[in-house]
Amino acid sequence: MVNDPVKIAVAGGGYGAKVALPAYLELEEFEPLAVWSRRPERAQEMAGQAGLALGTSDFEELLAVPGLEAVHVATPVITHVPFAVAAAERGLHVLCEKPLADDLAGAHRIAAAIRSAGVVGAVGFELRLKETRRRVIARAREVLGRPRMVSVSLVQTDHADASSRPHTWVHDATMGGGRLQGYGVHDLDMLLEALPPIEAVAAATEIGVTMRTSDDDHLLPVTAEDAYAILLRFRGGGLGVVNLVATAHHDRGDVIELHGDEGSVRLDADQRVWWGRAGHELQCEGPFDNSSTEAFKRVARNFWAAIRNGDPPDPSLEEGLRVQAVFDAVRIADVERRWVHPEPVTLVL
Ligand SMILES: NC(=O)c1ccc[n+]([C@@H]2O[C@H](COP(=O)([O-])OP(=O)(O)OC[C@H]3O[C@@H](n4cnc5c(N)ncnc54)[C@H](OP(=O)(O)O)[C@@H]3O)[C@@H](O)[C@H]2O)c1
Repeated sequence: MVNDPVKIAVAGGGYGAKVALPAYLELEEFEPLAVWSRRPERAQEMAGQAGLALGTSDFEELLAVPGLEAVHVATPVITHVPFAVAAAERGLHVLCEKPLADDLAGAHRIAAAIRSAGVVGAVGFELRLKETRRRVIARAREVLGRPRMVSVSLVQTDHADASSRPHTWVHDATMGGGRLQGYGVHDLDMLLEALPPIEAVAAATEIGVTMRTSDDDHLLPVTAEDAYAILLRFRGGGLGVVNLVATAHHDRGDVIELHGDEGSVRLDADQRVWWGRAGHELQCEGPFDNSSTEAFKRVARNFWAAIRNGDPPDPSLEEGLRVQAVFDAVRIADVERRWVHPEPVTLVL
């Protein structure tokens, strides 16, 4: 039994309300107090459904809730810096969604505000905590050795047509949208967890469906990528390919392949993990649970343990910064069409 649940507020009516808030309501480690949405009526509706005292579109009002200890920032990427910094400056612990910010400078601003407030900061790299990917990372550490070639390939259909998903900030580059912020950063985070640092990147992005229908049935231009291909060089040797298409007409589960000088690991599209050392047949285990909800509960429990027990946050701000540095390099590589070395980040805050 947890006697001292963390009193938390959730900012965001998408992932925040659909995945995070139900998990906080279920977990005994948390007591949700309030929720924020851009629209007051939506905020009140969410609060009513969850039985919370406050639903507001005024972020300052959210931060001022008596007894509040922590905020989960699950809003468009471009808004992470003002929201997360304001929460930290109030002395609140911050779980910030991925990527930390639109660029490395913004991510450093969040990290600095959290450090100077002396509160806990964590980043929502939930995908790495899915059972499937945890298994891939564990087996890679066990059998891979040095990477020779790795590949992460995602095929999705949710953006295949102009009306398959309504136009939102996700389709607007000025808001920090795009599939790189949606999935690419998760895949880079997983590779950085399992493999040596990334020395250089090359990248290309594409917008396959250029106009998208808004909620009120207007066609709006899409300015953020719905497909990407990233090439990686690992420090000490080895190459990687990370790619996604969100406009495919036929879906397929995520496929991850890691080939090293001592062995191989593969996640197949049916959530099974294949692994083996050189000279041995691959062994198969699974299928494993691939649920976002269960993965998010791990993120939330780790956040609680960092606040109450002083455990190291996981995923940490340091991990958020190291992904952000590679993410920045990917953006530059795509625009300037050249190899780019990610900026080194100081991992001790
Ligand atoms: N960890 C994960 O696996 C995961 C998965 C999905 C998303 N995320 C992250 O969660 C964050 C939010 O993504 P989402 O998909 O939940 O987004 P969303 O559903 O489109 O919006 C989230 C919130 O932001 C508000 N909002 C929308 N456009 C805005 C704008 N132009 N200015 C200010 N606020 C605006 C929305 O307002 P309304 O309530 O009025 O609509 C909503 O409350 C992002 O950082 C994303 O990367 C993480």
